[in-house]
Amino acid sequence: MSLATVLSRAQNGLTADLVRVEVHLANGLPGLAIVGLPEAAVREAKDRVKAAITTCGYEFPARRITCNLAPADLPKEGGRFDLAIALGILAASQQIPAERLAGLEVLGELSLSGELRAVRGALPAALQAKRAGHALIVPLANADEAVLAAGVRIIAARHLSELCGALHAGELAEYLATNSAFDIAVDGPDLAEVRGQPMARRALEIAAAGGHSLLMVGPPGSGKSMLAARLPGLLPPMSEDEAIQVAAIASVATSGFDPRNWRRRPFRSPHHTASGVALVGGGSSPRPGEITLAHLGILFLDEIPEFDRRVLEVLRQPLETGEITISRAAQQQDFPARFQLIAAMNPCPCGFLGDPESRCRCTPDQVARYRGRISGPLLDRIDLQIFVPRIERQALLQPAVAVESSADVRVRVSAARERQMQRAGKPNVLLNATELERDCALDAATRALIEAAMQRLRLSARGYHRVLRVSRTIADLAHLPTLTPAHVAEALRYREFERSGV
Ligand SMILES: Nc1ncnc2c1ncn2[C@@H]1O[C@H](COP(=O)(O)OP(=O)(O)OP(=O)(O)O)[C@@H](O)[C@H]1O
Ligand SMILES: [Mg+2]
Repeated sequence: MSLATVLSRAQNGLTADLVRVEVHLANGLPGLAIVGLPEAAVREAKDRVKAAITTCGYEFPARRITCNLAPADLPKEGGRFDLAIALGILAASQQIPAERLAGLEVLGELSLSGELRAVRGALPAALQAKRAGHALIVPLANADEAVLAAGVRIIAARHLSELCGALHAGELAEYLATNSAFDIAVDGPDLAEVRGQPMARRALEIAAAGGHSLLMVGPPGSGKSMLAARLPGLLPPMSEDEAIQVAAIASVATSGFDPRNWRRRPFRSPHHTASGVALVGGGSSPRPGEITLAHLGILFLDEIPEFDRRVLEVLRQPLETGEITISRAAQQQDFPARFQLIAAMNPCPCGFLGDPESRCRCTPDQVARYRGRISGPLLDRIDLQIFVPRIERQALLQPAVAVESSADVRVRVSAARERQMQRAGKPNVLLNATELERDCALDAATRALIEAAMQRLRLSARGYHRVLRVSRTIADLAHLPTLTPAHVAEALRYREFERSGV
């Protein structure tokens, strides 16, 4: 037989479609023709595969070799198919037993010496191999990642010759994760380290409980970054399914998946100089950006007025839908982006507006221009907006009083989340107008309070719903089925920034 088929997987966004690598040997002028890949990728794959086969002591057949990768519309990077092509050639020329490749999928880039190099997207490939009921061969460097798709047989390979040896012997050993890094990591900075700041602590708790986005405005050094970094520790631990989603995204991203981050809620804090593509995702074969890497976790935008305004505007769609669509000439890709937005900024360009020692020298015009960099519609989507004052020196110097730790707060947050899941099947931040009307029963006194506030604050319809949403979370933290005036009054306090101008 001079025909062999090896299964592999492409990577397209977060999906890993099955690819059949068919190798045919025919009489004629010796050479290797690869069809189904873009030209540049073909040239590189040819050279690597040929070198790897010969350096491993096998014969590169002196025949006309046609290698077809089906279906034909594959991504540009061809490296991931190297191993499948090499095994196909070796099987078609009867140098390895072809029947041992049945039920196997193969991923891996070859070095010229036959060493296997890591590929991107090993986890999505493993998840789909599992669905297909196939085993998967991956480079050793990808093995820890691939085994996360529990229930699929992963075979880790270091070197082409070693793998061929195992195929001859019929002994493909399953890779077993021994890494202790897979233990659930719940560490990170603790809320107990924050002195004072009762309002900010409370806002963080509400944000965590309802999944709300939060804007913190305050002078330099008031602890905004410090507070934001403590939000992941307040959120309920990720489920297995959520952890897999997060790991799969990291697996296809430029930086790759690091097993040490397994089960850790994403906390992404891109710098304000980040480009649109870095933040939102993109590229000719689209890769996820920061907002997708923050999926199910936190996107922290420090000094938000410094971000490019057009880039910020793009956040409006995912904030509402939890998804981002990236369109490129060649293809369109949807990535999940259900992140919780935490933003921080100074109150004015110099940072000292509202400071008790009144060191601010900014003109009202400068302040207005600075704040104008965040558009109204984006601000309108941030449920909680608070002022974070600098804490007094004495408070920092005094011995710490016993304050609640992140674990204490997490108990209340988890209970409130549980209520939301039972009632609506989703966190409050995702409630739409109809669901809010249904879940926020208002008695006469509460309704009167909201009506008065709407007039006084000139609330838009969206602003009104924001107040309801936050009130709902506050009531959930208090284990109450209906809203009371106290809940609404508290929710209205988290709009202080827009109101006071300080
Ligand atoms: N409430 C606080 N309790 C304990 N430490 C604090 C508090 N506020 C500030 N600090 C200390 O001040 C440092 C600076 O805080 P942080 O970087 O969070 O300020 P910031 O508001 O983000 O400032 P900037 O506007 O310059 O980014 C913290 O690392 C911490 O050591
Ligand atoms: Mg900061």
